[in-house]
Formats: sequence, C-alpha cells, structure tokens
Amino acid sequence: MDEKQSTTVSPADGPVAVTGASGYIGSWIVHDLMNQGYQVRACVRDPNKPEKVDHLKAMNGSDLRGRVDLHSADLWQPGSYDSIFKGCCAVIHAGAAVGYNNETPQQVYDSCFTEVKHVIESVKKSGSVKQFVFTSSFAAVGHPCPEGYVYTERDWCDDEIEGYDMYFTDEMIPKNRDIAYALAKARAERMIYQIAADDGGFEAMSLLPLHVIGPLMCANHDQSWSWQNRLRFMMKGKPNKAQEGGRMLWNNVDVRDVGQAHRLCIESPLARNGSRYILSASDRSGELFTWQMQERLAALFPAIKTVGGEEMKDGKPAQKTVDSPRSYCMLAKQELGLNTYAIDESLTATGNSYLKLGLL
Ligand SMILES: NC(=O)c1ccc[n+]([C@@H]2O[C@H](COP(=O)([O-])OP(=O)(O)OC[C@H]3O[C@@H](n4cnc5c(N)ncnc54)[C@H](OP(=O)(O)O)[C@@H]3O)[C@@H](O)[C@H]2O)c1
Repeated sequence: MDEKQSTTVSPADGPVAVTGASGYIGSWIVHDLMNQGYQVRACVRDPNKPEKVDHLKAMNGSDLRGRVDLHSADLWQPGSYDSIFKGCCAVIHAGAAVGYNNETPQQVYDSCFTEVKHVIESVKKSGSVKQFVFTSSFAAVGHPCPEGYVYTERDWCDDEIEGYDMYFTDEMIPKNRDIAYALAKARAERMIYQIAADDGGFEAMSLLPLHVIGPLMCANHDQSWSWQNRLRFMMKGKPNKAQEGGRMLWNNVDVRDVGQAHRLCIESPLARNGSRYILSASDRSGELFTWQMQERLAALFPAIKTVGGEEMKDGKPAQKTVDSPRSYCMLAKQELGLNTYAIDESLTATGNSYLKLGLL
C-alpha cells in the first residue's frame, strides 16, 4: 500500500454510480448516498420492473437530499457501463449474480470475474472515476481455523494454516459453490487493486460483509438464499434452514451500516487502494448462536407464538455449535468512522419490515 494521502470525494465532485442498486445492499447504499446529498446513477438490469425499482424511484419524492436516476446495464455485457460511469466521481459495485440460481460452482467463480472485469474496464474508460468500491464478502477472509479464532482484514480465505487442510484451491472450485464464491471474491479483490495501481487514476477498496440483516425495502429483497429470509423462516416458527440442524454462529451486521460503510469508503482519506474492511458485529453482543437469535426474536416479538431456529432440549440447545466465525468491524469504525446499530435494533427493524411487507 502506498503512503500518499487517499483521494476523497463529496457530493460536489459529481454523481456516484451504484451497480446492483435494486438489491438488498445496493438499495441501502443508494439511500445513504442520497441522505448525504449525492446524485446517484442507479444501475439496474430493467428499469421497467416495478417490483425491483419502485422503492428507488420513491426516494426522489422523500426527504432525502440527493437524487437518483435509473440506468439500464448488464454485468455480462462488456461496455454496458461505459456511458453511465462517464462523469461519475465514484463507482460502487454491489451488483452480482450470487450463485443460487442453479449455476455450477465453476460458473459462480467465472461469473464473478467476468462481472468485475467488465465493470472495472468501464471505470478505466470513464476518465472521471477516482474511487471504486467493491462489495466483496467475508467469504474472501474466512479460512479454516481453530474454534474461537478472531479474523481480521489481514486474513484471506486461501491462507495456509498449519495443521489445517487447504480447501481453497483451484481443484476445489468445480466441486464446491462456497469455495468457488470465496476464491472468486478474494481473487477479484487482488485483481482490482492491481488494475487500480497500474492505472494510477483511481483507487479500489473492498467491503467484506458477514451475516447481513436489517430492514427490507421491498418484497424482492426476500431472496430465498439470504440471511434475512432465514430470519423470516425462524419468525414463522420454522427451523433455521441455513445449516445442518439450524446451528450456526450468526455474526451480524445491519444492512443500513453496510450501505453507510460504502459511502464512507469513498469519503475517507484513510481508505486507499487495497484497503479492505470487514463488516460484522461490533462486539460480542452481535455474535449470537441460532438459539440466542431465537431468544432475542421471541423477546422482541412477543406476539409470535413460536420462533424456530435450532433444536432445543430442556431450554438449552440440543447440540453444541462450532464457535466460528468471530470477527469485529473495528477497522471500519476506526478508519471510516462507521457507527453501527445494536443487534436488537437490527432484529426489530428486520421483523417490522417483514410485517409491513405482509410476508410474515
Ligand atoms: N447479503 C449478504 O449477506 C452478503 C454478504 C456478503 C457479501 N454480499 C455481497 O453483496 C453484494 C450484494 O448482495 P445482495 O445481498 O444485495 O444481493 P441481491 O439483493 O441479490 O442484489 C444483487 C443485485 O445484483 C443485480 N444483478 C444480478 N445479476 C446482474 C446482472 N447480470 N447485471 C446487472 N445486475 C445484476 C440484481 O439487480 P437486478 O436484478 O435488478 O438487475 C440485484 O439487485 C453481492 O456481491 C454479494 O456477494 C452479500
């Protein structure tokens, strides 16, 4: 990483483009940018699908200070973003085919690169973009580890850890979707930092969210693979369908904090080419085993008769859960000035948004 002061941007520097703007995270990025007075170019595949874009359009009539305009683009088409990025001071790349639509693991891996390559080519051609933020994932961080290990931004999924088998290898990509996804994110990160360093005209940073929960803006944000959808199932009295037996350690971050962190990244003088920020719980209060999530949801929504999750026996979890992944968003707080929601605020807002959308 170089020593020079990072470039920063503000609403006076021009529009900010957001890919995947209609998505769960993308929508909160747009909301936060507009709240700070930015003009936003929201990139969506089809601006004529009301179920995907109406909530974005409604932001223009709200008390948010900025403005959003919809632009049609596809991550699979080279050059699709060329004209949209021209004149923008920053690009936030939150769009992705996340890989739960019957893609093979190899397709998940390949598509991540193809998408990022297309976007970064358009950034280079723009002549105006100074800051590029990639929504990577904590998956690019989490390598095999002893229980209770605390991950930081220095960790990469393909780190070799003494005494542990190496799973994140080329041979594993065609065999396992999660490994394909993690390696694609990690390698895409390294690729964009290198391209930005070679280009010299812009800086590239990444955000690494863990379990993202928080309010949904529309029913389309209830994607069947998502963490928020798994909370919905628990609130409907069903098991947590994320893992075998529903057992897992939820390391939660609020989607509104994820949105805010992307904007702070383009504004921070400390975030520079190669900077990466884990977005996870701020402290242990946001790291909860499934049975603890059940308890919190039951306390926050007393009208719900049965909250599901993992199997309980005599008021205790029937089986032990592996104590991982532990990680805290300390760097994002220190370098970006991120303020985070408390876990109860996030759970309440998630549940209330489901109630409002009529999905419970
Ligand atoms: N949610 C999490 O817990 C989590 C955790 C870690 C990392 N992430 C990362 O965060 C990013 C956003 O995730 P999300 O949860 O917001 O997912 P999401 O709600 O599915 O949003 C993804 C967006 O990408 C757009 N997209 C998909 N294929 C496209 C294509 N071919 N061309 C253009 N746009 C396309 C979709 O927009 P349209 O359908 O409107 O075109 C969609 O709105 C992803 O990179 C994901 O890997 C998410």
